[in-house]
Amino acid sequence: MQNSFKHSIRDLHSFAPRLLAWFEINGRHDLPWQQHQTDTPNPYIVWLSEVMLQQTQVTTVLPYFARFMASFPTVQDLAAAEWDTVAEHWAGLGYYARARNLHKGAKQLVEVIAETGEYPTTLAGWEAISGVGPSTAGAIMAMGLHRYGVICDGNVKRVLTRWAAIDGDITKSATTKELWALAERLTPREQSGLFAQAMMDMGATLCTRSKPACLLCPLQDDCLAHAQGRETDYPVKAKKQPKPSKFSNALLIKNTAGEILWLQRPDNGIWGGLWSLPLEFVEKISGKVAVKAVIKDTIKNTDNNTDNKLSAATGNQTLEVASNEKVYETEFTTAEQIINEWLAKNQLIAKSVTKSLLDDAPIKHSLTHFHWYLTPQSVTLNAKQTTDITEALQAGDININWLNADDAQATLGLPRAMVKILE
Ligand code: ADE
Ligand code: SF4
Repeated sequence: MQNSFKHSIRDLHSFAPRLLAWFEINGRHDLPWQQHQTDTPNPYIVWLSEVMLQQTQVTTVLPYFARFMASFPTVQDLAAAEWDTVAEHWAGLGYYARARNLHKGAKQLVEVIAETGEYPTTLAGWEAISGVGPSTAGAIMAMGLHRYGVICDGNVKRVLTRWAAIDGDITKSATTKELWALAERLTPREQSGLFAQAMMDMGATLCTRSKPACLLCPLQDDCLAHAQGRETDYPVKAKKQPKPSKFSNALLIKNTAGEILWLQRPDNGIWGGLWSLPLEFVEKISGKVAVKAVIKDTIKNTDNNTDNKLSAATGNQTLEVASNEKVYETEFTTAEQIINEWLAKNQLIAKSVTKSLLDDAPIKHSLTHFHWYLTPQSVTLNAKQTTDITEALQAGDININWLNADDAQATLGLPRAMVKILE
């Protein structure tokens, strides 16, 4: 058979043994979701952890994973849980579509188990579960069932583009295909689970994004990027467009008891299914905007690893705001329309409080497609107004809650940006 890869058959063959030998000594063997030391792997544990780890790093996931396992020890427990409970457990992990898919996926799995008596046993069976893509499905097959499975996630792509000096843009499907073919070629029939875990560990601990530790690497002898001293030129990825910025007021609408009005956001769109303060979108500003005061930064999300870093900068900051973008229509919910109109009609909050952005302390929150500057605005309603707005929202079939800050944090699934505002 002809070898269509850049490396010799010999190098291709020795890849897995070298990697596994490295893993045995230097890999991580104590992560709570690992199933390679047991003869009876638990697919639920692997599925749950893989979904959590999709865009988030191990250290962030650990406490969340522990809480999920404590509250939902089986897939049946997770499927039977109320969405609000699941959302609350997820709050702060980000990429909330994953939580919705997880809950939906649990229900699907329970159905499969009820019908067949077991978890899906094929790649296609797992790919049919919400939120499970080809790499996650491969990971579950290999690590959660001890069957054959191939992974090709961000970590693997980084290692392989370097090892084989693959120049194609990894966001292009031709490159994806090439990488999958290589991953399949390298994955051993036996022990594909160990191999998957070893590849992830290599990517996470040795062949890191900015400082690969090539001298410790079992692949350094035939790593084509290393041979050229060009490790960090890989993976090649088209430059991303700078993210646009959007500005909103986050409305702290209080009743006389000091309770705050919370809305459950619709399932589609930002923070779908989670509870948030009503937002009021501020007129778009373009050009340079000086922001005085403190900007609390809740950043950053890169493609494979999410750090929810918190830093506070004081003093003047200048924001470059991209001009002429279309802003915010899609994130503006029916509930917010009702509230914004009601507030305007009652002359409780001036529309378009551009000024507030300059005077107050916006919370900067970076989502996948834009940066969001959220400025808290307080307004206290009297008893009649409270009833009025409550009825207006209930007439619109909107789930609302009046809860003080502590109770809201304790009982509702709040996105991280909301927690920042409360703090
Ligand atoms: N990233 C994705 N899956 C992982 C795993 N099983 N262990 C460590 N990091 C991971
Ligand atoms: Fe990554 Fe360096 Fe190993 Fe190549 S030699 S796979 S760049 S750590």
